[in-house]
Amino acid sequence: MKKAIIITGFIFSVLAVSVCTQSCAPTKVVAQKSGAQLWGENCIRCHNMPSPTDFTDVQWETVGLHMEDRANLTSVETKKIVDFMKSAN
Ligand code: HEC
Repeated sequence: MKKAIIITGFIFSVLAVSVCTQSCAPTKVVAQKSGAQLWGENCIRCHNMPSPTDFTDVQWETVGLHMEDRANLTSVETKKIVDFMKSAN
């Protein structure tokens, strides 16, 4: 009986992981967007558009983490935006 529960639990966790790798991954549309595009679409929603030159590379890393939370971005989207900011400052 215990074995059956363990096996069922294992199967469910494998299922959960495989469902998540499909549905939790960014959609194709989002995956194709560039950092500049994501910046233009997201960073103006709540405040004025921050310019890449406003902050240094190190500061952008921190801002990125903070805004990932605020703007509800995925880590992939944040990385693209931060990389873009760093390339343009
Ligand atoms: C959901 C709303 C929201 C979105 C979307 C958002 N921000 Fe913000 N942002 C805030 C708020 C609120 C603050 C004020 C600081 C805080 O969070 O307490 C802020 C502050 C900042 C600051 C600091 C401003 C300063 O002059 O000190 C920067 C830089 C910034 N955001 C960059 C961004 C970037 C880049 C993006 C796009 C990835 C973004 N934000 C998207 C809400 C948002």
